[in-house]
Amino acid sequence: MPLGFIVLSHYQARPLLEARRAGQSIARTSLDLNRSHCDVTLDAGGITLPDGRRIAWPIIEQIAASESGCYRIGDGAEKIQTYSQATGRTYSLYPTPLAPTMLISGLPMHRIKDTDPYRDTLAKIKAASLTRGRVLDTCTGLGYTAIEAAKIADEVITIELDPAAQEIAQLNPWSQPLFDEPKITRIIGDSYDEVRRFADAHFSRVIHDPPAFALAGELYSADFYAELFRVLKPGGRLFHYIGDLDSASGSRTARGVVERLKRAGFQQVTPRPEAFGVVAHK
Ligand SMILES: C[S@@+](CC[C@H](N)C(=O)[O-])C[C@H]1O[C@@H](n2cnc3c(N)ncnc32)[C@H](O)[C@@H]1O
Repeated sequence: MPLGFIVLSHYQARPLLEARRAGQSIARTSLDLNRSHCDVTLDAGGITLPDGRRIAWPIIEQIAASESGCYRIGDGAEKIQTYSQATGRTYSLYPTPLAPTMLISGLPMHRIKDTDPYRDTLAKIKAASLTRGRVLDTCTGLGYTAIEAAKIADEVITIELDPAAQEIAQLNPWSQPLFDEPKITRIIGDSYDEVRRFADAHFSRVIHDPPAFALAGELYSADFYAELFRVLKPGGRLFHYIGDLDSASGSRTARGVVERLKRAGFQQVTPRPEAFGVVAHK
């Protein structure tokens, strides 16, 4: 087991209940939202983990009944959710069969329809055609883009506005490399302000994965794009996530984004529908 803490969702809890119904004494499960797997033993009271810890059936039943929560196991099961004083928003971890997404006031921060948060991340990384060098990741979230970027780039600087979002990432097994990978530098602050602190041509790539326009309009503004242009090296690229370019709201947002990116100096601003965004060159 790679983790000191255990996180379960209904994707683990329901098969455990089925194993009990089937009379099994051993079941294969995951204690970290399907990042890794192990065998647990089943008895009348609950399950016993490889390190001897126990989880009682009523806790597993509680988790199995929740469609939308991930639960940290301590004495009981605590839903991974927090309210941010800073932004007045609620953050929670929302399960999928593999990596979870984060909900901000009920809105998922990754694509989960017809894909999953990690495939969504890999599409962004591919569209940004990462190379070695320094990458700016403007919006940390659960850190998936920063983690994947660090597998290719020499250095990744990632910025998160809300400490509450980072609290959720800390409790997400899939986000742990965000805190362990030495190539990643985390900044808590507003990207709109923080980006002004970097020197001209500091980054070879920028990945801009903001919340929806309605939640963070300033991250779609012409003056912010001008700063992203300034901090990119000549020859550098920006990937800007927008949303489904084929939807009415996505195509409307994309039109404004493309126009303002061009005004900021970007060239070859190209739709990348498979990654739900655009790529722009300096
Ligand atoms: C779509 S999520 C990013 C997902 C991320 N790429 C990942 O891999 O998990 C957007 C994140 O941006 C954060 N955010 C919102 N406004 C911000 C700002 N002005 N500066 C930095 N981060 C911001 C939100 O709190 C949220 O965590």
